[in-house]
Amino acid sequence: MKFSYVNPTQIHFGQGQIETIATSIPKDKKVLVIYGGGSIKKNGVYDQVCDALKEHTWTEFSGVEANPTVETLDKAVVIAKEQAIDYILAVGGGSVIDGAKYVAAAAKYDGDGWDILIGKHQVTDAIPLGAILTLPATGSESNSGSVITQKSTQTKLPFMSPAVQPKFAVLDPDSMKTLPERQLVNGIVDAWVHVCEQYLTLPTGAMVQDGYAEALLKNLLKLAEQYGERDNNEWRSNLMWTANQALNGLIGSGVTHDWATHMIGHELTALYNVDHARSLSIIQPSLLRNQIATKRAKLEQLGSNVFGLAASSDLAERTIVEIENFYRSVQLPTELTEHGDDKAAAIDTIIKQLETHGMVALGENQAITLEVSRQILEDAV
Ligand code: NZQ
Ligand code: ZN
Repeated sequence: MKFSYVNPTQIHFGQGQIETIATSIPKDKKVLVIYGGGSIKKNGVYDQVCDALKEHTWTEFSGVEANPTVETLDKAVVIAKEQAIDYILAVGGGSVIDGAKYVAAAAKYDGDGWDILIGKHQVTDAIPLGAILTLPATGSESNSGSVITQKSTQTKLPFMSPAVQPKFAVLDPDSMKTLPERQLVNGIVDAWVHVCEQYLTLPTGAMVQDGYAEALLKNLLKLAEQYGERDNNEWRSNLMWTANQALNGLIGSGVTHDWATHMIGHELTALYNVDHARSLSIIQPSLLRNQIATKRAKLEQLGSNVFGLAASSDLAERTIVEIENFYRSVQLPTELTEHGDDKAAAIDTIIKQLETHGMVALGENQAITLEVSRQILEDAV
């Protein structure tokens, strides 16, 4: 095992913590508050932000959509450049935070911001940003990743840079009160798959990373089981913190990653507007079956330590069934058929897009070629 690890995002966790932004953002900064379609105006978060920023100079940009597009975000980049913005506050879910990261980076670049996503521009400088999270799922509030869509080409790509990692993140479980159930269950499954992408690979003997990953998975199962408790602060707090820890760099340090489910899933979202988490629940079971030979040991470990399954020669197979049952228990789809009629044409289109985006050797062994991806998609029905 070999790694360097730091997570520099300061977390302000708990009810009432939004007021900390008054001091977390230096008073001499000109702030751009970025948010989405208006949910923050219905749950009191916007009012708390206005209150906390009353001694700051600030302006706002709204309308960042779910699966944020470069077409929308470039309008915010213009504002940030023209108004010499020197701090960004993202208020919302993963889409708003990812979008704010793009704006923070693109505002410091003279070329076309899309260059960041296609690797033509490496981000080393960005406007500092903070985040107020309203939807536990992605972990974007304290990591250095961002996923952006170009609507015109139906392309959804990630970029990573320490320069866009939020300086602070406010995790107030009260902000979840207005979350639609669909988003709540999406968040549970997205966080689950984040842990899997960093755990369900090869046995590396990393006891801390494995043990912590298993604790997070058990939490997510339990929270789904206790779904009836979702209106209490303890339930919300546990989900918010679990989803955060699932993708803040810790469990992924020094171990092998996969991320193939995410990369194939991104194409489903970009082409057919499938919610991010739903793209994962469709792809992952089929991908695990396809890759069972390399993933068998970790699937067995998960089956035994997380689901409490007894040892057997088909333990890995039974673990995948348990994962599927878990997704279905929270009403997430596990089959591609649930997303359209003309499957053959859809699969052709997805494969073409994967090729265009260079996603031709995915997974921990780069063994998921386009042919393997096709098989995974064909079997996901
Ligand atoms: O736009 P508003 O009005 O805020 O509504 C949003 C949106 O419609 C709504 N919402 C958020 N908080 C709410 C609320 N509605 C009521 N009450 C609240 N408290 O929920 C809808 C979905 O929001 P979105 O931000 O899109 O969801 P999520 O947090 O699941 O983010 C998904 C995006 O994150 C990317 C995904 O690809 C996708 O684009 N990811 C980012 C990652 C990262 N940066 O590390 C990793 C993930 O794997 C993921 O890929
Ligand atoms: Zn995800």
